[in-house]
Amino acid sequence: MKTILITGGAGFIGSHVVREFVNKYPDYHIVNLDALTYAGNLENLKDIENKSNYTFVKADIRDADHILAIFQEYRPDGVIHLAAESHVDRSISDPLAFVMTNVIGTVNLLNAAKAIWNGEYEGKRFHHVSTDEVYGTLGETGLFTEQTAYDPHSPYSASKASSDHFVRAYHDTYGLPVILTNCSNNYGPNHFPEKLIPLCIHNILNEKPLPIYGNGKYTRDWLFVIDHARAIDLVFHQGKTGDSYNVGGFNEWQNIDLVKELCKQMDEKLGRPAGTAEKLITYVKDRPGHDLRYAIDATKINQELGYTPSVTFEQGLSITIDWFLNNQEWLDNVTSGDYQKYYEGQYRES
Ligand code: NAD
Ligand code: DAU
Repeated sequence: MKTILITGGAGFIGSHVVREFVNKYPDYHIVNLDALTYAGNLENLKDIENKSNYTFVKADIRDADHILAIFQEYRPDGVIHLAAESHVDRSISDPLAFVMTNVIGTVNLLNAAKAIWNGEYEGKRFHHVSTDEVYGTLGETGLFTEQTAYDPHSPYSASKASSDHFVRAYHDTYGLPVILTNCSNNYGPNHFPEKLIPLCIHNILNEKPLPIYGNGKYTRDWLFVIDHARAIDLVFHQGKTGDSYNVGGFNEWQNIDLVKELCKQMDEKLGRPAGTAEKLITYVKDRPGHDLRYAIDATKINQELGYTPSVTFEQGLSITIDWFLNNQEWLDNVTSGDYQKYYEGQYRES
């Protein structure tokens, strides 16, 4: 039986990756290692928590000794590393937290894998999950390819770029069998409501302002989270060691157009008159260093591994809204307590 250790498996994307692996590979033992920060939530995994091929371990990747002990205990054949501080706005107010988890935490994992594999790399793989934000920003045209030079701007993207460089350095220096994916913006069930789409869903439900940074013409490339999980599965099993794969679905939206589409679908689903939610749109102070446009060229993963997304954006958005409407208790739980303090601080000057 293979053991696959997934870090950050209680978070938004990680929980979908854990579910995909637990259900699809009953012969694997899936170990979910997560510190359960504000963004980690075991509620996300209720449906699989009792499966016999699943184990949860609470641990912090900043703690090198604990991480090494866990690797020695479980001796994973594969690592899929998603644990991270993931929110750009939080990185602007507390960059060091991002260095500690995203850079030091990643190096701790690389060291632990290197120590237990000890040069015996047959059947082993360290899959680092990263972001398109490492490439910086695009102008009005062009796409990020795997050859695009790294040019991160936010403390978050600088920390992710640094972690990507360390992962490659462990391949080039020690021969560690690594592989990387750089994905565009995800959306879907379990998305933490500090991010644009779930924040707007939450605020529409509660008839609160929908904060649009700057002029709203910033562009992001959106992928349904389950399609990201499918891509990770494909690259983990079939990708070429040492390579990077960009993951995306050629689905660019300006923020303002995206929020208007969301408003339209929410009004329909809530039975409110057309135009009700749009009235909540409020332009607020811009994010410092805000990248204008991200857009992924997903040709490599498509041509080499046959990957295509399974849903259109309209379908994915509809599934997402339905999930939030049917899981309002989840939303209420994560938006009480610390979330309120974060929200008031973040949008105070707007
Ligand atoms: P998230 O913030 O929802 O979840 C992060 C998870 O990591 C949480 O479960 C949290 O408890 C855990 N974690 C945080 N610090 C930890 C630590 N020190 N030790 C152990 N666990 C810790 O993030 P997400 O949006 O699911 O992103 C997952 C990964 O995918 C990240 O590496 C992120 O950079 C990358 N990514 C995200 C997106 C996106 O759109 N969300 C797109 C591309 C890549
Ligand atoms: O591109 C991949 C990245 O996507 C991931 O690596 C990050 O972990 C993930 O958080 C996401 O980063 P973004 O900064 O693009 O996502 P966010 O949802 O925070 O913002 C999306 C866009 O919406 C961005 O242009 C900023 C804008 N925005 C965001 C918030 C929270 C607003 O206009 N208002 C808001 O209140």
